[in-house]
Amino acid sequence: MTKLIKLIDEQKICGMVFGNADIDLPKNRLNPCCLYKDFSGKVSDGVTNVWFNEHYKNLRQQWIDNKLPTGCTLCKETNTDPNIFSLKNQKNKLFKDKFDFIYNTDVESPQLPSVFNIHTTNTCNLACRMCNPVDSSLLDSIVRKNDILRDYFYVPDYKNKVNVESLRGSFKNAEFVSFLGGEPMLQEANIEEIIKMIQEESTNLKLINITTNMTILNHELLKKLSDLDKTVMLSISIDGPKKIHDYIRYKGKWDTIIENIKFVSSNYPNFKLSINTTVSVLTVGYITDLLDELGNLQNQGIKIIKIMPFPVVKTYLHCDILPKSVKETYLQKINTYENVFNIRGSDSLLRASTDLLNGSNNHSPDIHRSIDDFVRFINEFDRIAGTKTTDVYPEFKAFMN
Ligand SMILES: C[S@@+](CC[C@H](N)C(=O)[O-])C[C@H]1O[C@@H](n2cnc3c(N)ncnc32)[C@H](O)[C@@H]1O
Ligand code: SF4
Repeated sequence: MTKLIKLIDEQKICGMVFGNADIDLPKNRLNPCCLYKDFSGKVSDGVTNVWFNEHYKNLRQQWIDNKLPTGCTLCKETNTDPNIFSLKNQKNKLFKDKFDFIYNTDVESPQLPSVFNIHTTNTCNLACRMCNPVDSSLLDSIVRKNDILRDYFYVPDYKNKVNVESLRGSFKNAEFVSFLGGEPMLQEANIEEIIKMIQEESTNLKLINITTNMTILNHELLKKLSDLDKTVMLSISIDGPKKIHDYIRYKGKWDTIIENIKFVSSNYPNFKLSINTTVSVLTVGYITDLLDELGNLQNQGIKIIKIMPFPVVKTYLHCDILPKSVKETYLQKINTYENVFNIRGSDSLLRASTDLLNGSNNHSPDIHRSIDDFVRFINEFDRIAGTKTTDVYPEFKAFMN
């Protein structure tokens, strides 16, 4: 028997294919992570059936045999070096620190998943520039009507929306369950039903997480979560200081988010508050400003337990498109930053930003095409949002004009 922990310590394997289920109800997909490119199976076939199907067997065997599965190639540059940021390395570390399955699993006899990321719908009140129509109904409605933006996105039909009953039987080992959207604060019924199911099945549930844009508070959902005898975490998506955040997250408002954070912090003091930050060409130069803002919140008594980087894997939003001089300015800002607040995860976020600016996660073989794509995309988005990129990022004048 080979223990999963041994292969993880040797940097040979991705723990997600053994313990992490990404369940997307609007897309009717079950995958080992959000970056996985192949098709593993339909949720409507039952999560338990897909988790042990031929595709998953082959996928796990390829990792055991030290071969890179085709679905995992978005992590390809980062499979072996534990010091370079990748989703695999980030999750392996998190799983090792927090979850029993890493220590209990024999790779020859995989168990049901322990970590669940559940996308319940794509209903969302924002249209963030780096997001996708499959995650945001508002972005979906904008893209459907727009000939330029349609070139950039997959716009599915949602006929195959899945009944949550397909999840039944899969939660026996659930330790951590995270709800994403769309926007979870807009859809309490679905989430409540799933939590009920998990509580019936799992005896090991430790943490329920809601990933939210925090622009609205669903008071009924918050109350129900606080009544559970479990740790509850809100992972709040913030992509930069006010000016950057409000530019990227169309229809979102920094001031409202901060008010809502303060409300939750004083009314639900047991909730853990964490921050998710995307790393892309639109955020990478402003990570240090965001860390300062979060530090200011800490000084006002708001406890942020950690911050997590979410690199954006889209060639036209990749940091590679920046001119060398802008990259150097951004790198210098990061290198000279005094991380006085040192929120957990901030080093990882700064390292992810540095790695992306240094091109060590280079996903962009045709850089000129990516720059053209960026300019066309961002100008059209600006037209819709009534914004001007170079007002927010004066340094982009170097390649946008
Ligand atoms: C799709 S959102 C859904 C939950 C909620 N609406 C929110 O924004 O927090 C889940 C997380 O993915 C991040 N995200 C959005 N688009 C992304 C992209 N293209 N690449 C990586 N992460 C992305 C968001 O910032 C958020 O933290
Ligand atoms: S709030 Fe979340 S789901 Fe909505 S558009 Fe932004 S990232 Fe996407």
